[in-house]
Amino acid sequence: MSTLEDVRPVELASESWLSPGGRPDSLMRRKHGLIGAPVSRIDGPLKVQGKATFAAEFPIDKMVYAALAYSSIAKGRIATLDTGEAEAAPGVVLIMTHRNAPRLQPMPMILTGAKALGGDNLPILQDDRIHWNGQPIAVAVAQTQEQADHAASLIRATFEAEPAITDFAEAKAKGVEQGQFFGHPLKVEIGDAEKALAGSTAQIDALYSTPRHTHNAIEPHAVTLAWKGDELVVHDTTQAVSHCAWTLATVFGLDESQVHVTSPYVGGGFGSKTFWQHHVLGAAASKLAGRPVRLALSREGVYRLVGGRTLTEQRVAIGAASDGGFEAIIHTGTSAMTPHNALPEAFILQTQTLYRADSFKLCVDVVRLDMLANTFMRAPGEAIGTFALECAIDEMAVKLGMDPIELRIRNEPDQHPTQGKPFSSRNLVEAWRAGAERFGWAARRSTPGATRDGEWWIGMGCAASTYPYNRFPGGAARITLSRDGRARVEIAAHEMGMGTSTAQTQVAAERLGLEMDQVTFAYADSGQPGVVMAGGSQQTAAIGAAVMAAQRALVAQLLQLAGNDSVLAGLSPDEVGGLDGGLARLDNPSQWESYAAILARAQRDEVTADGIAPPPSETQTWSMHSYGAMFCEARVNAVTGEVRVSRFLGAFDCGRILNSKTAASQFKGGIIMGLGLALMEETQFDERSGRIMNPSLAEYHVPVHMDVPDIDVIWTDIPDPHAPMGARGIGEIGITGAAAAVANAIFNATGKRIRDLPLTLDKLI
Ligand code: MOS
Repeated sequence: MSTLEDVRPVELASESWLSPGGRPDSLMRRKHGLIGAPVSRIDGPLKVQGKATFAAEFPIDKMVYAALAYSSIAKGRIATLDTGEAEAAPGVVLIMTHRNAPRLQPMPMILTGAKALGGDNLPILQDDRIHWNGQPIAVAVAQTQEQADHAASLIRATFEAEPAITDFAEAKAKGVEQGQFFGHPLKVEIGDAEKALAGSTAQIDALYSTPRHTHNAIEPHAVTLAWKGDELVVHDTTQAVSHCAWTLATVFGLDESQVHVTSPYVGGGFGSKTFWQHHVLGAAASKLAGRPVRLALSREGVYRLVGGRTLTEQRVAIGAASDGGFEAIIHTGTSAMTPHNALPEAFILQTQTLYRADSFKLCVDVVRLDMLANTFMRAPGEAIGTFALECAIDEMAVKLGMDPIELRIRNEPDQHPTQGKPFSSRNLVEAWRAGAERFGWAARRSTPGATRDGEWWIGMGCAASTYPYNRFPGGAARITLSRDGRARVEIAAHEMGMGTSTAQTQVAAERLGLEMDQVTFAYADSGQPGVVMAGGSQQTAAIGAAVMAAQRALVAQLLQLAGNDSVLAGLSPDEVGGLDGGLARLDNPSQWESYAAILARAQRDEVTADGIAPPPSETQTWSMHSYGAMFCEARVNAVTGEVRVSRFLGAFDCGRILNSKTAASQFKGGIIMGLGLALMEETQFDERSGRIMNPSLAEYHVPVHMDVPDIDVIWTDIPDPHAPMGARGIGEIGITGAAAAVANAIFNATGKRIRDLPLTLDKLI
C-alpha cells in the first residue's frame, strides 16, 4: 500500500479523521497541488472593478430608502413624538413609529436556539419603551436617502426618563452574577489556588482593564429587501444567511422557506454581521410602505444599533516556584452586559488552555447595564483575556529574572491543563523557537529602558496567542458534477473578505481531482444546503467536513453509475477518490476512469449528491486550538509618550494552511486589529447618560497605514490529523496576544507597566 504522501490525489475513507485511531483527511498531507498554494482571490477582479454587489448596492424597482431617529435617554418611555414636520418633508413616503409599526415577535437572541441570530430580543417600535440610549424610535422612509435622512432629523421626541444603570461601579455595587458561555458557567476551580498563591516563592497579582469597543467593518450594516406577497427577499451583509432567514421568519410569523437571504460579499464582519434591529425595522417599513426598502446604517447608526466588545476588569494572579513552575493561576473579574443579551466577555478561555499549573481559579462575573447589547467581536473573550494573562506572565518573568519565552515554555502543558484531554496537535514551542529566531529576540535587552535612539525608547515584547478550533453542527453541502467535467459545490457559507470562496474552490478542486477553473463554489444563499455561521473561526472546518461528506456521497453514486463495465467495478466508496478529472482506486491509481466516461456510459448529463457533515465529535475527544507566538518592537517617545510599533511578527501553529496568500492576510489583519486594541480603540461611553459619545471614525480611532509597520507572519504548517484538511481556524488568532505583546514591548522600552487599555500616550508621560 502506498503512503499518504505519494498517493497524490486519492481520497481516504471519509470521516475517519473524527475517531481515535482513524486516518486523517489525506488532503492535509498534499505536498503539491492546490492545498497551501498562494492563489489570488477569485473575487479580487470583481472587487477592484466595483462589480461585486454589496447589500446596499442591489437595485430593486420602486425601492425607497430608510433612515432612523434615535432615543437620547437610556431608559424610560417616549412622552411625545411629533412626526408632522417629517411627514410633510419632501419625498417622504411614511414615518414608522411604535404607533403604526406592524405587530411582531421579538427577534430570537443569538445562542438561545440553533438558528437564533438576534443581538438582543427587545420589542423595538412595539411600544413606547426605551431600553438604551440610541435605540431607534422612528423610521423615516423616503424617495432618496438624503430625503430620508432629512426627514429623520425632523422627528421631535420628548422622553420620560426612569432611573437607569449606566455606571459600571454602580452596577457592580448592586451585585454580580455568574457569567455563562454557550450555556456553561465561566468558572473553573482546581485545587486551592489562593492558598497555593500565598505559599508561592514568586507572586504576581494585578488588575487589568479593557474598554468597550465598537465594530467598524469597512462596510456598514445594511439590508435591501422586498416583499413578494408573503415572501421576503433580503440582500444582507451577514455572517449567517440561514440563521438570518430563520430569525426574520420567526419575527414575522413566517416559515423560514418564505424568507430568502443572500449575502454574496461582506465588507468585514468580525462578529457584528449577525442580526440587529435594522433587519426587523427595514422589513417592517417595507411591509407598511408596500415598497422595497433599503436600510443602510450610517456609521453613527452602527454605533447606536450594533453592539461591540464590552468592558472588563480582570484580576490575574500567578504563583510560581523559584524555577518558574506555576503553582497557581488565578484569572477572575467582571464583564458588563445588558439584561437582553447572552454574551459576557469570556476572558478566561485562553487561561484554561495555555499553561500548566498545580491549581487554577478562573471565573467571569457579569453585571447588567442599560446600554446597547454587547456582542461578539473578533476573538471575544480571548482578545482581551490574553492581554491580561500575557501581561501577567511578562510581569512574572521580570520578577523571576527569566526570559519570558523560556518561562512560557517551562510551563508548556502536555495535555489540556484544566480538562485533561489530549491535544490534537500543539506545536506552540516550535512557533516560539521559529519566531524568536526570525525576530532576533536574542538581541533584546532584558533591562527596561536600556535601549534609546534619540528621544525614543525602544523595547521588545512577546505574548502567546490561542483560539479554539470550532466546528458547529449544521454543515451540509451539495455537489453537482456534469459530463463536461465541471463541478458546482453549493453551501450556505460566507465570504467576508477573508478568502473563503478562493480557498474553498482550491480544496474542492483538489478533493474532486479537478482544476480550479472547473469548480464553481456557490455560497451565501439561504436556499443552499447547510446552516453555517462564519464565526468562531469555524467556517473552514464546517465547509470542509460538509464537502467531504458530499464528495463521499458523490463517489458512491458514481460507482453505481459506473457499473460492471468500469475498471472500478466492485470497489466501495472508501476505496476510491478523485484524480485527474475522474475516480481512481486508492491503492492503485492506475485503475482510473474519467467522470466524463462514467456519465456518458450511464447516459447522464450530470449527477448531484448531498452530504451532511458528521457531528463535531473531534472536539469532544481532543483539545483543539490554534496557537501563536507574537513579537513586537515598540518605540516610545520619551517626551510625548507617543507609541510607534516599529516591527511585529506572528509565528502561528494553526494546522495546515490552505492558501498561503489569503491566510497571511488573515493573520496580518488580526494583528492590525490587535494594534488598534492595544493603542487606540475605545468607545467613549458617558456613564451619566449611557450615550456613546464618539460615534464616528473621526473620534473612534482605528489603525491607519501610518500606524502599521511591516508585519511578518510565519507558520508551522503542521497538519492537525483531527481536522478536515488538517486545518484549524485562522480568523481570530491574530488579534489574541497582540495587545499584550505591545504592552510588554512598551514595558521593555520604558519600564512602565500599563494595565489599562488602550495604551494611550497620556498613560505613558
Ligand atoms: Mo467571530 S467574533 O466569531 O465573527
